[in-house]
Amino acid sequence: RRIAVFASGQGSNFAALIEAQRAGQLGEGSIELLVSDRPEALVAQRAEAADVPALLLRPKEFASRELYEAEIVAELKRRDIGLIVLAGYMRLITPVLLEPFAGRIINIHPSLLPAFAGKDAIGQALDYGVKLTGVTVHFVDGGMDTGPVIAQRSVAVEAEDTAESLAQRIHQIEYELYPEVVRAYAAGKVELNGRHVVVRE
Ligand code: GRF
Repeated sequence: RRIAVFASGQGSNFAALIEAQRAGQLGEGSIELLVSDRPEALVAQRAEAADVPALLLRPKEFASRELYEAEIVAELKRRDIGLIVLAGYMRLITPVLLEPFAGRIINIHPSLLPAFAGKDAIGQALDYGVKLTGVTVHFVDGGMDTGPVIAQRSVAVEAEDTAESLAQRIHQIEYELYPEVVRAYAAGKVELNGRHVVVRE
């Protein structure tokens, strides 16, 4: 399966996916494109260093979100992309992208959804005082962090945790879990039935 990763920022998950691919851990998955809405983001430099083609578009330069996404869809079709992996892509997706890629867009979020959706999930978890948080990989629908859950892993919150220390442990789990899910998806082992997802061994 040909994969496009969408990212807006640091791109440490992008880097982890590239590493996994190099180590042969993505199976039939192959990262063919980075899409970023922030050409100045570190993730764009990471793509260049890894020799991954990048589509860097500024949404502000388009008359609407839909026209911005239409340009992305055209490039995804040209490259025969079969899976979109959102990794810190900080935009909601419209039907222009969702419809042609229904069931083929996944996202990673640093909490056990549906708890702490939206921005700063790690800060939200600390403020709330939960003892357990984690990481969720889910299919993307039109909402913010609302689609069917594919996989979750928990991370314990320690009394002495700061936002930084907790984020670090959560990110480590992300770097393991996302490549695993991408590999399973690429192998055709992720089945979506309504809200329910089955990942076969
Ligand atoms: C990750 O924590 C991911 O779960 C969230 O955004 C963050 C992206 O970090 N959606 P990075 O750009 O991959 O370093």
